[in-house]
Amino acid sequence: MEVIRTVAGLRGRIDALKADGKTIGLVPTMGALHEGHLSLVNRARGENDVVVVSVFVNPTQFNNPDDLRTYPRTEEADCALLEKAGVDFAFIPSVEEVYPEPDTRQFELGPVAEVMEGAMRPGHFNGVAQVVSKLFAMTTPTRAYFGEKDFQQIAVIRKMVDLEGFDLEIVPCPICRADDGLALSSRNVRLTPEQRAEAPRIHRVLAASVDFAKDHTLAETRQWVIDEINKLPFMEVEYYEIADPLTMRPLSSWDEEHEIPAVGCVTVYCGDVRLIDNIKYNR
Ligand code: PAF
Repeated sequence: MEVIRTVAGLRGRIDALKADGKTIGLVPTMGALHEGHLSLVNRARGENDVVVVSVFVNPTQFNNPDDLRTYPRTEEADCALLEKAGVDFAFIPSVEEVYPEPDTRQFELGPVAEVMEGAMRPGHFNGVAQVVSKLFAMTTPTRAYFGEKDFQQIAVIRKMVDLEGFDLEIVPCPICRADDGLALSSRNVRLTPEQRAEAPRIHRVLAASVDFAKDHTLAETRQWVIDEINKLPFMEVEYYEIADPLTMRPLSSWDEEHEIPAVGCVTVYCGDVRLIDNIKYNR
């Protein structure tokens, strides 16, 4: 595996590979890698000639300076994992390399970016669109891989790809869970042992709500999830919405569901750690 730190270095490698007709799989990450990231890498390895993993904690998508400051940074361990996973290039640029000038672009992402995470974290999705559009322009991937834990992020990135006209495939990958059901996240390391023991119950409530939904209205199901999670030690729900999986519009009745099942998206504060998860209502 080669570690590349400059855009010029990355472009040189990519141009040569593309001239040779190679396909490129890109896995964008913010590091602190875990099995969830590795599942994206494995998928990318199976579907492309070359795999590039970017490791970059993107300051423009953090609306909370403390969150940016405390975001785990584990470059050495990340590189060891990527090397073992058979990655060809780890692209690990500095902030100055990605943003030689402040990025003032405002993407017209529309309603998909205005609800849920968009409402709770103003500017977050614009920052994601800024960095992902730069990574796409730098890497010109054939395919790019994103985890469905950040379900709304994928819808936003699809919108950005439409706006910018990138010619690539977005590949959504299923959530990776610990054996006890907790969705894997780089933030999980910040949970105390007591919080970590309770956190899998978020997924258990979501999974149980699929059954509950069979004979309850959407509004009842939504409220049930909020109440059940709020009963758990350490937990406070920030939002729970059952939304259209393409537009991310929160639904108010099961009748509004189209062919693709609705998705329930939750954000929960477990102590001061913000956890997100989601469930598909395959009822
Ligand atoms: O999902 C993430 O880790 C980040 O939002 C991403 C897509 C790497 C952009 O910084």
